[in-house]
Amino acid sequence: MTYVPSRQQLPPGIASLADHEQHARQHLDDNAWAYFAGGAADEISLRANRSAWDALTLWPRMLRPLAGGHTRIELLGRTLAHPVLLAPVAFQRMAHGDGELATAYAAAAMGAGVVLSTQATLPLETIAQAVLNDAGRGPLWFQLYLQHDRGFTRALVERAEAAGYEALVLTVDAPSSGARDRERRAGFRLPPGIDAVNLAQMPPAPPVALQPGQSALFDALLHQAPTWDDVAWLQSITRLPVLLKGVLHPADAHQAASLQVAGLVVSNHGGRTLDTAPATATALPRIVQAVHGALPVLVDGGIRRGTDVLKAMALGASAVLVGRPVVWGLSNAGAAGVAHVLRLLRDELEIAMALTGCATLADASPALLGADLDADYRVFPS
Ligand code: FNR
Ligand code: LAC
Repeated sequence: MTYVPSRQQLPPGIASLADHEQHARQHLDDNAWAYFAGGAADEISLRANRSAWDALTLWPRMLRPLAGGHTRIELLGRTLAHPVLLAPVAFQRMAHGDGELATAYAAAAMGAGVVLSTQATLPLETIAQAVLNDAGRGPLWFQLYLQHDRGFTRALVERAEAAGYEALVLTVDAPSSGARDRERRAGFRLPPGIDAVNLAQMPPAPPVALQPGQSALFDALLHQAPTWDDVAWLQSITRLPVLLKGVLHPADAHQAASLQVAGLVVSNHGGRTLDTAPATATALPRIVQAVHGALPVLVDGGIRRGTDVLKAMALGASAVLVGRPVVWGLSNAGAAGVAHVLRLLRDELEIAMALTGCATLADASPALLGADLDADYRVFPS
């Protein structure tokens, strides 16, 4: 099964997620790098995700009591040790022979939630069996792409339920792939033996004979694309909570709330679908405002530091997800590498909380980002 040499030991000198990325660049080939690191088109949203977190300033408070503080949060009826989940990332065996299994083990060991991609390279049952009985694990969710064959999609949902997945995360921002220039330049291809194995039994889409002037997208592929009706359909066929991933516009958040979805993930797919879509740090507070606490709002995209996690929580996120850093950790040292990425983020989050005067994440509010700074704090009347 092993596709790349399965590194298991963390190299010395890695102190941050950026260090993990740099190290991974040295041994992933150009093909895999283009796929994992790339974004759509000019990669404006990819960069904006990062720069939007950087542009937020933390306004620390001093001398607050911090003893007994913690990073715990509540999410969908469970208490989690910290607010970091692993985003669904396809084709992980292209980064390391252990693939999604290593990722899931590391997440369980670190109490982090896992969202397994529809396009995972190992059977969804294998991943669930490996971690379900770990008492310290975080939530185990399945990311769903609706397939052209709704019967097959339903069977996939039933498999996820039977295997023990606790929620479905329906990705709604990729009815088509983005314009992946980086992949095209690199001539990206999946290496032999790396497949979306959970889709292996799916009947092929019926061929469409396009008439001259018809579009392969609008007149074929998009006939199968999910709509709001499919969200309701999915809710009707599953007992699992359904979250929507890839919502950016407050009006969509509002519509999702009216369908009583279980949660939203504010995401631009790591800048891989629509280029020039807003940075997620920019969209997040608007979505939070639009749903006024009716459902949890998670966010991903460019989260690379504990301070980014804290900023997301201050903007009203219920939790965050990280994508590419997991791939870098996996590629650098398998499960140990992913665990290290999570450890770094958790440690940095604790430090950021301590230095801003937040004993718990409930203390992270817009005031931490400088909201209302100019309120009248004069002690003596002038
Ligand atoms: C993704 N993402 C993704 N999302 C999804 O819903 N299903 C999937 O299969 C994948 N696959 C995937 C592959 C790769 C290589 C990347 C980088 C991303 C998007 C992912 O879940 C998440 O939204 C972003 O990765 C978050 O941004 P960062 O943390 O990578 O900046
Ligand atoms: C991607 C798909 C698999 O971003 O979601 O590559």
